[in-house]
Amino acid sequence: SAFDLTIRHGRIITATDDFQGDIGIVDGRIAAVAERLSPGRRDYDAAGRLVMPGGIDSHCHVEQLSSMGVLCADDWYSASVSAAYGGNTCIVPFAAQHRGQSLREVAEQYRASAAAKSVIDFSYHLIVSDPTPQTLETDLPSLIREGITSFKVFMTYERLKLDDAQLLEVFAIAAREGALPMVHAENNDVITWVARHLLRHGLTAPKYHATSHAPVAETEATNRAIQLASLLDVPVMIVHVSTQGAAQAIHAARTLGAPVHGETCPHYLLLTADDLDLPGVEGAKFCCSPPPRDPASQAALWRALAGGTLQLFSSDHAPYRFDETGKLPSGEATTFKQIANGLPGLEVRMPLLFSEGVRKGRITLNQFVALTSTNHALMYGMHPRKGTIAPGADADIVVWDPARERRITWADLHDAVGYTPYEGMTITGWPDVVFSRGEAVVEAGTLQAAAGRGRFVSRGQPAPVRSARVPGTEARFMRSLSGAGPFTAR
Ligand code: URP
Ligand code: ZN
Ligand code: ZN
Ligand code: ZN
Repeated sequence: SAFDLTIRHGRIITATDDFQGDIGIVDGRIAAVAERLSPGRRDYDAAGRLVMPGGIDSHCHVEQLSSMGVLCADDWYSASVSAAYGGNTCIVPFAAQHRGQSLREVAEQYRASAAAKSVIDFSYHLIVSDPTPQTLETDLPSLIREGITSFKVFMTYERLKLDDAQLLEVFAIAAREGALPMVHAENNDVITWVARHLLRHGLTAPKYHATSHAPVAETEATNRAIQLASLLDVPVMIVHVSTQGAAQAIHAARTLGAPVHGETCPHYLLLTADDLDLPGVEGAKFCCSPPPRDPASQAALWRALAGGTLQLFSSDHAPYRFDETGKLPSGEATTFKQIANGLPGLEVRMPLLFSEGVRKGRITLNQFVALTSTNHALMYGMHPRKGTIAPGADADIVVWDPARERRITWADLHDAVGYTPYEGMTITGWPDVVFSRGEAVVEAGTLQAAAGRGRFVSRGQPAPVRSARVPGTEARFMRSLSGAGPFTAR
């Protein structure tokens, strides 16, 4: 037979197409896509189901130390297994530099751990928190050239945050080296000021986490990040957008042609700040930054996803157990300021968007594929090897049952967190089989992949960086000041 595997009779959905057909796979890659292909050595009958590019989750935290020094509950094995069960074939978490650490050492250790444990293909972003000369002049540029073409920076969290001058410094390196900065945009001083007063008034319950992370903190910082990026005309990705104001800032910038991009996550569409208002410290299960907002914000974010203002839908899986090793360092006495920030969501990201988005008519099937896979590949330099169904692409494919109804319960999930914020929610549309490079890694609810089978994906330039766009005169001058372009006297 010509093919190692033929996936037949499925309804194939990409970010742009929707047709009935077969996919022929040879050596882990897609060799042919056509209405009818000859049987392969193995035939998989996908009749009645959707055949889509495997999910790419480009924002998740795995085997990472948080800003407060808490280690994630998931390592590369449990995270990649959970991701695979949820329809994903690639994850891109973060190698996080903490102050005093060598960015290169952090990146190399992270990659070694991923290579030993991941069951699906992977890359990672960097987190830059210590912009020393060694970081800026040596480690960051060389890592970008080695295929780590994106990095996250923080405007909040005392131990991670960069000031505005430092943001400009790393933006200039991104402009020079062709990388995409990801920005956690919240105004640290606003959050600190509100939190200090709440605590003075004895308001320590988890719900005050949401109060302190006021919407204006996010909206202001998003506007500032966009303005700072515009000085150099450097592309940016605003991650985990939760407010209407932040979405509007991104929309306004894009309307003016600025290379500004945005991401949102399941919890901003499906949870609100009211979910933090539970007896005792139970609300800690819903504490993340930015926090869940309100129904008007949810509606604005759905519109921003459907209208193209936000290009990415990621889990921001930040797994902390609901105990003293994770969420609650001081048990019942933990104040909202001490709760580990983050929610799990790797395994339910795609089912949640399918059920709440596609089935409820808020987004199309093509948008579902773009938001969960194709745009991640484009934005982070993996397209067309990843994120599409086309000859030459890796055979990373999810066969999706659009009619299967299942109640979410943590006992059925495969992460190490111990709870899910979506416990009890009924979802329609789940993955049936997940093929990674043509191998069925999850089939009939069973994992068929060993730790270490996942491969590192060396990434090229992100699509927004690659674009032929010419920066304006002022941005060219500003870039030249930092050596991110030929010096242009003014
Ligand atoms: O609360 C969150 N999102 N924790 C994870 C770290 C981050 O800022 O994305
Ligand atoms: Zn963040
Ligand atoms: Zn006060
Ligand atoms: Zn995150």
